[in-house]
Amino acid sequence: MNAAAETPFRYRRLAYVALNVSDLARSTAYYRDLVGLAVSDAAATHTALRCSQDHHNMLLYPAAQPGLKRVGFELESRKDLEIARDYVAGLGLKIEEIATEELKTLRTVAGFRFHLPGSGLCLEYFVQMMQLAQPFTPTVTKIERLGHVVINVADFDLAMEWFTQKLGFKVSDFVPGFAAFLRAFPNPLHHSFAILTGSDNHLNHVNFMVKDIDDVGAAMNRMKKNEVEIVFGPGRHQPSESIFLYFLDPDRMTVEYSFGMETFPEHGAREARLLEPAPGTLDTWGSVPTPAFGKVGTIEGAAA
Ligand SMILES: [Fe+2]
Repeated sequence: MNAAAETPFRYRRLAYVALNVSDLARSTAYYRDLVGLAVSDAAATHTALRCSQDHHNMLLYPAAQPGLKRVGFELESRKDLEIARDYVAGLGLKIEEIATEELKTLRTVAGFRFHLPGSGLCLEYFVQMMQLAQPFTPTVTKIERLGHVVINVADFDLAMEWFTQKLGFKVSDFVPGFAAFLRAFPNPLHHSFAILTGSDNHLNHVNFMVKDIDDVGAAMNRMKKNEVEIVFGPGRHQPSESIFLYFLDPDRMTVEYSFGMETFPEHGAREARLLEPAPGTLDTWGSVPTPAFGKVGTIEGAAA
């Protein structure tokens, strides 16, 4: 594995994920009532939900195919955004400016989007999302933040090259040719994004980090009571040391709660660990994912 290349711009964080859903009202109710997000905007065209004072940490769009529409990363400053725009264009990718009307709807001031070669994944880089006056008040789960998004890719090496050599993500841990856990440098979280090898390109899961181990245990019982299918866990990931539970949304896309995660300093961080491709790497407690784990979710923009 080559060392990650430095980019001339800095990430602040993973800010939001946009999903396509087959029934907007049904998925809005699910993410509000069972996952515990708050609705900040409910329109015919989309729903905006949050787990912080941000206007949104998740956007739901009605679509024929459920899946991943895009992933939004906030950069540190307006200057970073301008540098990133030129830099990404210089990589030969087409820059899609976000129209003024959409910026207003999304309560952000500036941003652009582009699609990655191979997976087709749409990334958005933006700065400054409106902070709402009302704090986020947890309901069923004390959600701390949108934690990470994971995709399966048909061409693992190509995805690695783009994320680490071109877009400045750093590898925290990896299983050669199988999985890489990536931090949006210099954001300290062990991973905000991860790629897994796959027979095709698709969403694997969307993660929300919770504040308390009790949130994971209580969620297991709440999901069971509401006939939500649990597809992996509870367990503990070796790479991030997180305690986790995975379950399905109404379109059978996989959602995760996790508690705890290693953080990295900007300077002097440990090297990425090379992990064995063994079941114990995924769960040191020994649970095994069901066949439905991480299966559903087309990547919008991926080649069919
Ligand atoms: Fe995860």
